[in-house]
Amino acid sequence: MEAGVHSLEGRVAVVTGGGGGLGEGICRALAEAGAAVAVVEPELAKAESRASDVAEAGGLAVAFEGDVSSRASVESMTEAVVSQLGGIDILVNNAAIYPARPWTEIEEDEWDRVLATNLKGYFLCARAAHSSMVERGHGRIINIASVTFLIGFADLLDYVSSKGGVVGFTRALARELGPEGVTVNAVSPGAFPTDAEKIHPDPVGYNRWILDQQSLKRRGKPQDVGNLVAFLASDAASFITGQLIGIDGGWAMH
Ligand SMILES: NC(=O)c1ccc[n+]([C@@H]2O[C@H](COP(=O)([O-])OP(=O)(O)OC[C@H]3O[C@@H](n4cnc5c(N)ncnc54)[C@H](O)[C@@H]3O)[C@@H](O)[C@H]2O)c1
Repeated sequence: MEAGVHSLEGRVAVVTGGGGGLGEGICRALAEAGAAVAVVEPELAKAESRASDVAEAGGLAVAFEGDVSSRASVESMTEAVVSQLGGIDILVNNAAIYPARPWTEIEEDEWDRVLATNLKGYFLCARAAHSSMVERGHGRIINIASVTFLIGFADLLDYVSSKGGVVGFTRALARELGPEGVTVNAVSPGAFPTDAEKIHPDPVGYNRWILDQQSLKRRGKPQDVGNLVAFLASDAASFITGQLIGIDGGWAMH
């Protein structure tokens, strides 16, 4: 466990999509810093599997079923977290979907589904967690954005649009929540070797292309993102809000 301003002892963190690839690094890093982690997934079994990995590593994590695109589901998940873990200090809006195809093939209902998960879901989770943060006089909202918004990226129009929305959402919400002692920041990962990468037809060529884009010549690990999220969740980051922080090996420099 880390001590002092980096410690998350006594804090409760909700990680949406915590059962996924980057969720691994995020849940582990938060738990290593001492937080109790609520792992949220639409399928409880996926959340349970991640929670038990975290527990095996010596952390505290509890699985919760929740679909971030549904207000009813988000509200019942939030109530369950507050009743089982005592409140919410940290919300990591991480759940997203990323169907890849040319923009002319995006049907209206698919556009709506991507935006409902990747942008409305962030709003619904923040709304639901807000009162607990205000009650505790402290809060951290950390929104996972994407380098694809900074560089533009083909075949992911709805996804990239949702990530641009996440940046606007972060900045505007930071203005409203600052007076309440709640910080709101966004993290912009580059390319990480998770399921997201399986959408590329040529993995070897894609890997080479990523390394060419980055200043640092190694692939990112979920732990890299987890370390940044744990820092932003800690007291060490108490004067940082409304920011978009890249974690991409020096790809987009903005
Ligand atoms: N992997 C990368 O290279 C990369 C790059 C930039 C940004 N990101 C962002 O990082 C975040 C995590 O991505 P990942 O790579 O771990 O992907 P992933 O697919 O491994 O994880 C996403 C998780 O979200 C869950 N999820 C999907 N819909 C949900 C819903 N409606 N409610 C709750 N959970 C839901 C999925 O079950 C999955 O476990 C996303 O916001 C993604 O856009 C990833």
